[in-house]
Amino acid sequence: MSSIITEWSQQNKDDYGKRPLTALHSLHQGDKYSDENLAKLLEEYPRNKLGVYTMGQDHENWKTFVPGDAGDLSGEEIIEAVKKGRIWLNLRAVNDDIDDYTQLCEQMFQEVDSYTGCSTYKQDLGVLISSPNAQVFYHLDIPLVLLWQLRGTKKVWIYPNSSDFAPDENIEGIVLKETEEEFEYNPDFDRHALEIELEPGMFASWPQFAPHRIENHDMLNVSLSVEYVTMQAILQANMMYTNGVLRRRFGSTPLRENSSLVSLWVKAAFARALKLTRSGQQYQNKFRSHFKIDLSEKDCVRFYDKPQ
Ligand SMILES: [Fe+2]
Repeated sequence: MSSIITEWSQQNKDDYGKRPLTALHSLHQGDKYSDENLAKLLEEYPRNKLGVYTMGQDHENWKTFVPGDAGDLSGEEIIEAVKKGRIWLNLRAVNDDIDDYTQLCEQMFQEVDSYTGCSTYKQDLGVLISSPNAQVFYHLDIPLVLLWQLRGTKKVWIYPNSSDFAPDENIEGIVLKETEEEFEYNPDFDRHALEIELEPGMFASWPQFAPHRIENHDMLNVSLSVEYVTMQAILQANMMYTNGVLRRRFGSTPLRENSSLVSLWVKAAFARALKLTRSGQQYQNKFRSHFKIDLSEKDCVRFYDKPQ
């Protein structure tokens, strides 16, 4: 197979992990992401793992982003609904289930490791298929993320990864699984954001915990969302976990920006111990299905009377 990453500059290498960046790839070439092949992929992918969401139009109202299900619709019907409606699909960890993607993920990370000079772990390759004008609200991810654009174009806003834009308590809430990844957004934040028009053949990377939001342009979008961690990223996530427990259980007010490397390692060990003893479990919430994809409904979404 030819190279996946086709352009990675010295500037990219300097910026990686510290500042947002874009580089070029070749994955959008060919017909792997045609409607027909996407429908086939949806048939092969375990239906109970398929992440299905819808959302409202107002980009401040993140609570409209809710999970649903595709029932037993065929892959072709689901693609039709995504094209007509307001749906966002996430085929998480497709590399665990579909051989083609297992190989793609291996090659991708060989190249990523070699270009960045960092070792990556826990690679999770997700295929995102989303409706024209769909949006992903202001949020942050605990792992590191690479977003590869394959079909359609989208606008990505990336905000600074400081506590003004991502308060520690919010990050802790996400690590402790109290909440999903969205949280309060102020439109004034946009003045501090880097805006990227992501086109097929481009991929983007940003620092860990940097909040971001995304709006599709008026066409079906297909992207790969690739999550992974490095040793440094694991340490940072474990520190947020421990800080979250300290704040909630012992009323302390830890700050991530004050943490030295020694304190990082101590907190990482504490987080591991907490997870082993399962005492962190009380912070976990459950998420339920709010709607079913229905081609006859507005936005192809039929809400249940009560979440199931
Ligand atoms: Fe994200």
